[in-house]
Amino acid sequence: MGDVRACAEWLVAKLTAMGLTAEIHPTAGHPLVLARNAHLPDRRTVLIYGHYDVQPVDPLALWQSPPFEPEIRDGKIWARGAADNKGQMMAHVLGVEQTLRGNGELPVNLIFLFEGEEEIGSPHLGPFLVAHREELRCDVIAISDTGMVAPGVPTMGYGLRGISCCEVIIRGPKGDLHSGLFGGAVANPATAVARLVASLHDAEGRVAVAGFYDEVRPLETWEREMWAKVPGVGELEYLAATGSPAMFGEPGYTTAERTWARPTAEVNGIGGGYQGEGSKTVLPAEAFVKLSFRLVPDQDPATIMERVTRHLKQYCPSGVSLEVIPGHDGKPYATDPHSRFGKAAQTALHAVFGMDPVLIREGGSIPIVQTFREILEADTLLLGLALSDAQVHAPNENFPVANFEAGIRLNRALLAQLANV
Ligand code: BES
Ligand code: ZN
Repeated sequence: MGDVRACAEWLVAKLTAMGLTAEIHPTAGHPLVLARNAHLPDRRTVLIYGHYDVQPVDPLALWQSPPFEPEIRDGKIWARGAADNKGQMMAHVLGVEQTLRGNGELPVNLIFLFEGEEEIGSPHLGPFLVAHREELRCDVIAISDTGMVAPGVPTMGYGLRGISCCEVIIRGPKGDLHSGLFGGAVANPATAVARLVASLHDAEGRVAVAGFYDEVRPLETWEREMWAKVPGVGELEYLAATGSPAMFGEPGYTTAERTWARPTAEVNGIGGGYQGEGSKTVLPAEAFVKLSFRLVPDQDPATIMERVTRHLKQYCPSGVSLEVIPGHDGKPYATDPHSRFGKAAQTALHAVFGMDPVLIREGGSIPIVQTFREILEADTLLLGLALSDAQVHAPNENFPVANFEAGIRLNRALLAQLANV
């Protein structure tokens, strides 16, 4: 808690020193940081969002250098948050700093909005947007918290998957039992969890929850044709990036389509029973599984969780009890990449990287993006700078210095372009 607060205070000091008006807004959780230049009535207003919270660092032993002591090695910055999201976010901060130093002013009305709770689903940012709707009013939002398909290939995202999470607890006997004395006569919660997990997909990888695909917007032909030409996202690249022996997923879709435009059901963690060395002949009292569902337009997280809960109840074997504890969720997002702001961002990307950007949707989630649209009525430009080997959420997270510097130039080009559309 203290370290997150210190990070927010550091940001406010940095933004103030740059000449912006910056302040901390406490929430019931981690604080928000808000900063702005002097706004003029006849200029575009651009809101740049980022998050300064990070995922836990464990397993710590696998880090080659300490996660909170950034180190530059082999042309990359190595640290927790180097890519997700401190590094990408700071590229925007330093871009603005450079423009202010060089020109004394910015070409747009700027709002920086940085939060400390993105990685837990932004629980306090939605209510803050409602309460501060007027002062946050803007024409467009820019975020660099996504990926770049390959080094040097400018990438603009126009979609994000949503998410719906839950934990399922299966309870059986009142305590662990001797499996010889009771096995065969008492239902085993670990077996029940395994059956439930197995019921979530058909043999080919489609999600088997009734109604799961009902609201899924089909892929457009132009998207499929466009994505077929995107470099860096073929099966061979995914095999190399993941180390998996083979790719697997819903039939009829490429790997990129499966991750960018199709919904999924994933087991994030599963447990119960004896986990130690050797065997212990026990029949566990309970077992659990943590599930998350990645969603695409026009699926609704609450509706999906209702259908999943119904499915789990239906498929839960007899002799055990089932509890479904809903977790955080977020709506999916998609926008028109060819809007005037989208085109301006593509011009900026071209200017910085020297080639036409690729247009993709993202498999990950930034739940606040759809909330921005609903409350602030503004669309978001996703200008990703992280590479596929950035190790986000994992040990040895990294961000190339070249991408950091490109991000600084991109911020400057972007604000210049957005000022004129
Ligand atoms: N920056 C990521 C999301 C991301 C990464 C989008 C790469 C696209 C490409 C973000 O910080 C994140 O991890 N989001 C979580 C959201 C969840 C905790 C509500 C996610 O996607 O799991
Ligand atoms: Zn993240």
